[in-house]
Amino acid sequence: MFVPEGRVTNERLSLLMDTTDEWIRQRTGIAERRLARRGQSSSVLGAEAARRALADAGLEPGDVDLLVFATMTPDHYFPGNGGLLAHALGISGTHAIDLRMQCAGFLSGLHVADAFIRSGSARRVLLVGAECHASLFSWTDEDWAVLFGESDGPIRPEALAWGTQHRDRAVIFGDGAGAFVLEAHAADDGRGFEAFLMRTDGRHWDKLYVPGGGSASFPYFSPAMFADNLTVPVVEGRQVYRLATTAMPEIVREILSQRGLTPSDLTLLLMHQANLRINEAVQKSLGLSDAQVFHNIQKYGNTTAATLPLVFHEAREAGRIRPGDLVGFTALGAGVHWGAALLRA
Ligand code: UT7
Repeated sequence: MFVPEGRVTNERLSLLMDTTDEWIRQRTGIAERRLARRGQSSSVLGAEAARRALADAGLEPGDVDLLVFATMTPDHYFPGNGGLLAHALGISGTHAIDLRMQCAGFLSGLHVADAFIRSGSARRVLLVGAECHASLFSWTDEDWAVLFGESDGPIRPEALAWGTQHRDRAVIFGDGAGAFVLEAHAADDGRGFEAFLMRTDGRHWDKLYVPGGGSASFPYFSPAMFADNLTVPVVEGRQVYRLATTAMPEIVREILSQRGLTPSDLTLLLMHQANLRINEAVQKSLGLSDAQVFHNIQKYGNTTAATLPLVFHEAREAGRIRPGDLVGFTALGAGVHWGAALLRA
């Protein structure tokens, strides 16, 4: 995993919007988040995570024969980040796939990697999830200095008004990147990804989306869009909350029952980290103990496609994933797309 060094606490956010540390902690569980600076685009963050994952696996970039890049904040409208990652890693003969699945992006990437490897189309896959949400917000360099604790102002009244108008979204997102290297496991010891179950319900596409920018608008970007903040995501928080707290437990139960298992068989369930309250509700619905869950949203906020590798990495570092453990993954994101996976570690 790789997160930018810029740390933004709830206290610093409350200088640029009408919010409090208490509100953010109570409603989301988040204490701080990392946010990217100019130049730390999603492909830059993703390339660093990729280098670390390759080093962890003892491999060189050239040892990989497929790249998959999941992000909802790509460097450019097109092309996607896959080619930029290949370039950053110095690979030229490898296919790269871009996934636009938002908070379900990394889970979907695992599913794609698994299918390519099982079909024999790829031997080794480098999967990256990375986000630069900082680019969605209209802060100036002076505002960012306040957020990063490098200046106390003056606070521009327009910045305070903009922050307050977008405070429900500005408090939840954080930046970062994670990567997995996946390959076929030859030994017949039951280890590896056992199952995937993925769903999409497009009826909810407008519960979580960016209204401006795209071919639904003619022209696809216009000055009016920026004036009206239409390039900032719209999040219907309560409806997303309801969807997440019902769809994630249901799909986890379903993937387990397909294999004759129940939630009590899970060593650990790693959930997308959008809101700690959502994850507590999922935990309760599935009857999981505290030993069966692991969270790091407190430090990073919602890092969208980077979340699952961040939480996997830190759970592994904390000694919470040991050989033979049954690890579940679940996520729900804009689309809406959601799913679950089972890994025998
Ligand atoms: O992974 C994909 C994205 N995931 C998600 O969106 C899920 C995570 N998001 C959430 O769970 C919710 O969106 C939040 C907890 C972040 C926001 O809660 P909400 O209930 O959706 O907020 P809201 O915009 O509907 O506002 C509810 C109230 C409003 O006050 P009134 O009108 O009821 O008096 C807001 O002004 O909460 C107020 N509010 C805030 N107050 C202080 C919203 N954001 C803030 C804030 N600080 N940061």
